[in-house]
Amino acid sequence: MHGSSPAPLRSRKAQALKGLIRVPGDKSISHRSLMLGAIAVGETRAQGLLEGEDVVNTAKAMQALGAKVSRDKDGIWRIQGVGVSGLTSPKGDLDFGNSGTGVRLALGLMAATPLTARCIGDASLSKRPMGRVTVPLSQIGARFETEEGGRLPLTLHGARDAVPITYRLPVASAQVKSAVLLAGLNTPGRTTVIEPQATRNHTERMLKAFGAEIAVEQKDDGRHIHVMGQRELKAQAIDVPGDPSSAAFPLVAALITEGSDITIANVMLNETRTGLITTLIEMGGDIEIENRRLAGGEEVGDLHVRASRLKGISVPKARAPSMIDEYPALAVAASFADGITHMEGLDELRVKESDRLAAVEAGLQANGVTTRSGPDWLAVEGGSPNGGGTVPTHLDHRIAMAFLVMGLAARDAVSVDDSAMIATSFPNFIALMNGMGCRIEPVA
Ligand code: S3P
Repeated sequence: MHGSSPAPLRSRKAQALKGLIRVPGDKSISHRSLMLGAIAVGETRAQGLLEGEDVVNTAKAMQALGAKVSRDKDGIWRIQGVGVSGLTSPKGDLDFGNSGTGVRLALGLMAATPLTARCIGDASLSKRPMGRVTVPLSQIGARFETEEGGRLPLTLHGARDAVPITYRLPVASAQVKSAVLLAGLNTPGRTTVIEPQATRNHTERMLKAFGAEIAVEQKDDGRHIHVMGQRELKAQAIDVPGDPSSAAFPLVAALITEGSDITIANVMLNETRTGLITTLIEMGGDIEIENRRLAGGEEVGDLHVRASRLKGISVPKARAPSMIDEYPALAVAASFADGITHMEGLDELRVKESDRLAAVEAGLQANGVTTRSGPDWLAVEGGSPNGGGTVPTHLDHRIAMAFLVMGLAARDAVSVDDSAMIATSFPNFIALMNGMGCRIEPVA
C-alpha cells in the first residue's frame, strides 16, 4: 500500500442483502502462525491464513530473519523454523506497513536474541506508540534507538544475556502481553505477565499448542501468565478460522439493511473476541449462531443474521477488550438504532491505526448523526442517518469499511476518501459485499 494513490469509494442504499459468505482468516492468529512457525523446529503449515498486506509483511519479516516461508498453489503456507534462538539479523529494514501487531509482536520475538534489526512502517504506524513494548523489552535486556516519542523507525539490538522479568500490563493490550511472552521464549528461566483485564488469548493458546511450557493462573489481581524460556517449540499444522473483526462489517450491514438474511460461515467465537456479537444481540439484533464446532483448537460457528430493529444500549466498559477493534462497526449500527448507545472504556481507540474515537465521531457527524464524546467514551444518537458525507479515513481500514457499511442504509450515499488500506486486513471486502447486494463503487 505504501505510496499508492488514494482510492475513494462511495456506497449507496442497497436492497436486501442475501448470501452465504466466508470472511478471511483471523489476523491475530495469522501473524502468530508465522511468528511461532519461524522459531519452531520443523515445518509449520497454515491453511486459511489471512493474505492481507499486514500478514504478508510479517511473512517477509520472518523470512528476512532466517525462516523459510512459502505458499503452495493450494493456498497452504509453509514455514521452516530456525529454533527458539535461531533468528539472525536481517540485511535490510523490516517493513511492517500498517501493522501494530506485526511490529510489536516481532519486537518481542527478536528482543532476547543478539541480533540487530531496523523496523519501519507507513505514515499511520509511524505515529503509533512503541514505548509500551520497548519499556518491558528493555528490562529484559534489549536496547532500542527510536524516533522522538519512542516511535518508528526504530532499531532494536536484541539482548545477548536476556533476563526474565515479571511485568504487570499498564494497558489492556494483547500486543504488549504477547511481546513480553514471545521475548520470554528465548530468555532463561520464567517470564511472567500479569494482566489485570483479560485480553485476546491467542498467544497463550497457540504457545501451548506449539509445546511451550506455559501456565496461566487466575489470581485476585488478574491473570498471571508464566512461560519457561529456552525450550524448543514443535512445528504445528494450523487451521486459521474466520476473523470475527472482519465478520463485523457484513454482520452490521445485514442488520441495518432492510429485508437482509445472510450467513457468515466459519467465524471464530473465542470468548475474548465476541463482545460485538453479545452487544448486537442485546441491542435486538437477530443473530443466530449455528453449527458451533471446534476447528484448529478454536470454537467457530456460522452467524445467521437477519435485518433487525436495533435499540440503543449502554455497553459496559469491561467488555471493551473483547471488541476493541469493533467499535467503528458498532458505532455505525448504533446510528441506526432507536435511542442512544453509550460506549465506555475506549481509551485504547485513541492509539489504533488512527485516533479511532475521533475518526468515528467525525465520520458520524459528517453524515448527520449527533454524537457526544469524552476522552474515553462515545455516545451515539440513533435514528435514520442522512448520509451524504465524505469520511476522512486516516489510513485506517476499519474506518473505511465501517462507513461503507453505513452508506447501505443511510438516506444518501456515504463516501470515504480512501479504501486502498482495506487490503491490510480484508482484501476481498468490496467483491464480497457487492456479491451480497451492496452498492459500493469508485467515486467518479
Ligand atoms: C491484536 C491486539 C489488539 C487489536 C489488534 C490485534 C493482537 O491490539 O487491536 O488489532 O493480535 O494482539 P492491542 O493489543 O494494542 O489492544
